[in-house]
Amino acid sequence: MRVLGIESSCDDTGVAIYDSGKGLLVHRLASQIDTHQKYGGVVPELAARDHIRSIVPLIDRVIRDPANNGQRPDAIAYTEGPGLAGALLVGASVGKSLAMAWGIPSIGIHHMEGHLLAPMLEADAPEPPFIALLVSGGHTMLVDVQEIGRYTVLGQTLDDAAGEAFDKTAKLLGLPYPGGPAIAGAALKGSAGRFRFPRPMTNRPGLDFSFSGLKTFALTTAQDNDLDQQTIADIAYAFEDAVTETLTIKCKRALVQTNHKQLVIAGGVGANSVLRGKIDTLVNTLDAKAYYPRIEFCTDNGAMIAYAGCRRLQDSFVDTRAETNAMAFSIRARWPLDSLSPP
Ligand code: KG4
Ligand code: ZN
Repeated sequence: MRVLGIESSCDDTGVAIYDSGKGLLVHRLASQIDTHQKYGGVVPELAARDHIRSIVPLIDRVIRDPANNGQRPDAIAYTEGPGLAGALLVGASVGKSLAMAWGIPSIGIHHMEGHLLAPMLEADAPEPPFIALLVSGGHTMLVDVQEIGRYTVLGQTLDDAAGEAFDKTAKLLGLPYPGGPAIAGAALKGSAGRFRFPRPMTNRPGLDFSFSGLKTFALTTAQDNDLDQQTIADIAYAFEDAVTETLTIKCKRALVQTNHKQLVIAGGVGANSVLRGKIDTLVNTLDAKAYYPRIEFCTDNGAMIAYAGCRRLQDSFVDTRAETNAMAFSIRARWPLDSLSPP
């Protein structure tokens, strides 16, 4: 089965084709960083317009790519939610229209399920049950994955998502959008001993997170010091150290609590190499194993949506959410991950 995947929930248009026999055939991305950078964050209306401009040429290139050779897919998977409504509508309406025109089934995919399954695109893939730390610009959650489609959210952020905290802290330090890579880059020149940020919610039990206080801590630290290049680097270092250590502490708790031996790290912040270093050390001490998507599949992409669609439609069964020839479709700006069910 060959599935065309379309991702348009935020500021990246991603298109890919996954083949159940041959694996990932082709994937392409149109990034909108240039569009949003001057505003210091994603402008939803501009994101939707950029998706409209990019999506059809991108699908055309992917279909015509020599790896697919113009072949019509057997099904289409598009991101149904959660995300920006206007952005989601572009991918959903194009995906749905193409499926109708080609007479093939289509299925709406949960964006975070896409992130969660992204490590399965790699040769050394995890098998449920496992713990997933999903850390993106919009979400931060620890999930107990009993099987594909059966997810229990063990903890999540009470305020800012981890990526959001990176983006906001970068902005107040005068670093460019997106803030994650910018802070990570600045932190390379930072010194370890100068500032120490709190590790929020680690001194009480539980698996929830709170990152908005760190952003405020960064703001007051910036205000109390001359914001020269070295100070920016030192704040970036202390901030990154605090976020990654906090995430690692909660991952340890989740692994110990559930006794799972596999940990998946996914979502944009999962690209952070300091976080990966700390997680690798953690799993070594617990005799567990960590799985990461390749860097380009940590952030938003079409490959994870094509893969999730394929897993849900594969073999003899068809997911109850799959639609053929129905005109109606929906998008969901909000969509709790634990409301999903197995295919
Ligand atoms: O998963 P993603 O592409 O989009 C959402 O679904 O939100 O994640 C984007 C987030 C942004 O907040 C970005 O700053 C963060 O991931 N990010 C990083 C890194 N690369 C991207 N955060 C920390 N370190 C990185 N290397
Ligand atoms: Zn995402």
